Amino acid sequence: MVKFKSSADLTQKRREILAQREGKRYIAINASGTCGLSSGSDKVSRAFSAEIEKQGLSGRVEVRATGCLGFCENSPVVIIFPEEICYVKVKPEDVPEVIAETIIGGKLVERLLYRGEGGKRIAREGDIPFYKHQSRIVFGNNRSIDPRSIDDYIAQGGYAALGKALLEMSPEGVLETVKKANLRGRGGGGFPAGVKWETTRNAPGKKKYVIVNADEGDPGAYMDRSLLEGNPHSVIEGLIIGAYAIGSHEGYVYVRQEYPLAVENLSIALNQARRYGLLGRNILGSGFSFDVTIHRGAGAFVSGESSALMNAIEGRVGEPRPKYIRTAVSGVRERPSNLNNVETWANVPLIIDRGADWFSGIGTKGSKGTKIFSLVGKVNNTGLVEVPMGMTLRQIIFDIGGGIKQGRKFKAVQTGGPSGGVLPEGLLDLPVDFDQLAAAGSMMGSGGMIVMDEDSCMVDVARYFLDFLSGESCGKCVPCREGIRQMLRILNRICEGKGKEGDIDLLEELSAVVRDSSLCALGQTAPNPVLSTIKYFRDEYEAHIQKKRCPAGACKSLISYYILPEKCQACQICARECSVGAISGGKNLVHVIDQDKCTKCGTCIEVCPAKFDAVVKLSGEPVPPAPPPGTEVTRSKGKKR
Ligand SMILES: Cc1cc2nc3c(=O)[nH]c(=O)nc-3n(C[C@H](O)[C@H](O)[C@H](O)COP(=O)(O)O)c2cc1C
Repeated sequence: MVKFKSSADLTQKRREILAQREGKRYIAINASGTCGLSSGSDKVSRAFSAEIEKQGLSGRVEVRATGCLGFCENSPVVIIFPEEICYVKVKPEDVPEVIAETIIGGKLVERLLYRGEGGKRIAREGDIPFYKHQSRIVFGNNRSIDPRSIDDYIAQGGYAALGKALLEMSPEGVLETVKKANLRGRGGGGFPAGVKWETTRNAPGKKKYVIVNADEGDPGAYMDRSLLEGNPHSVIEGLIIGAYAIGSHEGYVYVRQEYPLAVENLSIALNQARRYGLLGRNILGSGFSFDVTIHRGAGAFVSGESSALMNAIEGRVGEPRPKYIRTAVSGVRERPSNLNNVETWANVPLIIDRGADWFSGIGTKGSKGTKIFSLVGKVNNTGLVEVPMGMTLRQIIFDIGGGIKQGRKFKAVQTGGPSGGVLPEGLLDLPVDFDQLAAAGSMMGSGGMIVMDEDSCMVDVARYFLDFLSGESCGKCVPCREGIRQMLRILNRICEGKGKEGDIDLLEELSAVVRDSSLCALGQTAPNPVLSTIKYFRDEYEAHIQKKRCPAGACKSLISYYILPEKCQACQICARECSVGAISGGKNLVHVIDQDKCTKCGTCIEVCPAKFDAVVKLSGEPVPPAPPPGTEVTRSKGKKR
């Protein structure tokens, strides 16, 4: 690799790469991302490489092992360029057919195409509803880049923004552009990035740090991992530009221990950037020097909080400290330290390249640009989606997500990670941005979006998140440590049918204390799941407490399974499948569940044939007495057994 001494060298390199690739086709497979690998995409990728060689196509067709393509539900995903034909759930044994039919024959392999509404096959990636309604400005390049190839990034125009910033703009000019674009932090709070950069820039002290927060501790969230795995150079480029604007020469990427592939791809990317002279001394001949160290976190949710993260970088326990002085002024080793989320940094090159007006033209009044969400739960198309700020929850969940699994009814959506809130059906038309979500009692957080159907109990959901937060509280401050624990005790007893009158008031009172007096935002936001579920689903709390009933039929202590004697046909399937032997009955005899033995796993209701429909789930009502032993079944009319 030759070091670039100027931005002309970079431009020349890009020209060479493009010339060398001209006229070639390439096949993108999500084989450099964790989700793709877990679905076997690496085997598909190897099968393509072998088949291309076998067919003598090596000089004309290239295989690109990309990071996550977002469409997780349909992985391994294959996109064939330039037509952008998208094949889903591809297996290695499909590969010879794809090469023969599509690459050589120019025809589609119909059975591998995505099936849209009414089973209609869709050939082009961009026509699939999951992709069609998205604006993938940050995430979109994943499909064109093998993260282990800096040349792939350069071919997409990568590092041109860095050249522009370093050689055509002053640090102040870069800062003003980011401020004008009104880029708000994607890691949780939505704080304006430019304002924070300015604070660090103006803070006294020569040595300053810039840091990438890739802790991503929210359960179910994986957009930062997918960006680091799939397009690490976009984050590195953003970081170098930020460092230039702030006046920093040392950076850190704080990445959680559980992300080995992200660390691997990032390390490769950093080394390649160094070899090209895009990191290190005198970058692109600009006189500006900067380099980056990877710090691997030990996997605690609270370590993602800014002061805790900086403690961890210093080698101390990753616990928060009081922020009388902000970390932007006194952070790592008491030096000014600017921390931004992975996605925030990845937006920076786009803003410098295309301008503040372009960026602020996307989104809502107070929230500009796009946001990547991890859309998970009871939705048909789970995956990573990038949408302009202001798109409604309904559009995200139904147009992109394809609606609720098995045609069930939407009940609620949880946004913002464990400290976010739960929003009901009545808010489906809420435009999603930082301020609207906060006003509704939830938050953007880092972009988790968990969709729930009518089988989800809202008290149990609040209990689940408080259980997580109670375990993750570092314990340093009493309101968070004890307050969350007490709230969890109350929620546990409500879910167990032991809730008392006054419990809802007590939860609200404790919420106010924990919110107002906790040391860091873990405690300050922990009451959100409780307060939002009380706000929108108070009747469910009341049913649990007053009627000992779980309306969703999810809380095990409040439900019972019962076999309707008049419907049981003694098929014996439930008795056979019950893992604890709680069901008695024999040939021609009505089956009975022993309520003391039953673990409420629900297998009996699942396996009871739909034509009999003999098992019911009861909640808030007594279980009817069992028929006397030896009661014979009443045969359904006309059925012989
Ligand atoms: C308990 C807790 C965990 C957090 N975890 C993360 C995280 O994993 N990633 C992240 O970017 N921000 C996380 N944050 C937010 C950070 O403290 C900080 O606000 C953010 O990294 C700043 O970057 P941004 O302005 O670009 O969003 C967390 C905050 C708290 C209170």
